[in-house]
Amino acid sequence: MSEMSSMMPDVQEVLIPSEEIQQKVKDLGEQITRDYREHRRLLLVGVLRGAVIVMGDLMRRIDLPCEIDFMEVSSYGAGTTSSGVVRILKDLEEDISGRHVLIVEDIIDTGLTLSYLRRSLLARKPASLEICALLSKPARRRVELDVKYLGFEIPDEFVVGYGLDYAGCYRNLPDICILKPEVFGGAAS
Ligand code: XMP
Ligand code: MG
Repeated sequence: MSEMSSMMPDVQEVLIPSEEIQQKVKDLGEQITRDYREHRRLLLVGVLRGAVIVMGDLMRRIDLPCEIDFMEVSSYGAGTTSSGVVRILKDLEEDISGRHVLIVEDIIDTGLTLSYLRRSLLARKPASLEICALLSKPARRRVELDVKYLGFEIPDEFVVGYGLDYAGCYRNLPDICILKPEVFGGAAS
């Protein structure tokens, strides 16, 4: 479908086509529904901004009463690498103490962001706290992280689409894609 997109000339390779993502998100939603059935209620915490698309699709595949909330974090430093120092730009609106909380993230790279978020949310005493990430780059991991729900493991390539951006753009591509090298050279920072 994204052959129709005007962004396709910037794309070197479609790594995961939209149909495969949708099937995976459906499977994850069914697994989460089974696992949380006895608790009935679930609070999904999306990490802005990359997780917005997977959050919207995943929540509709979970057949339980779900609430959603969002956090925005930023690792200091620019570009395509994580510095490990995490700053909370937007905190949760909800009090999560005693709640069953599932963090929803687009991608785990070094793991530093989620490891920080996990520690920070655990301090607020949720009844349970798990992680769901659509993508993971295991080759880049710098800290151990227990990810209960994982979509795809991908190679160490910078990817965009389905919520993931480069310089703020390409989040609306339906597929997970690798950009052409010349796109990185030419984009504004
Ligand atoms: P860490 O290293 O803390 O980083 O696990 C996670 C965050 O890094 C960003 N990230 C990417 N963003 N394409 C992106 O658009 C990528 O390939 C990529 N790898 C890491 C992302 O913000 C993620 O939340
Ligand atoms: Mg992110």
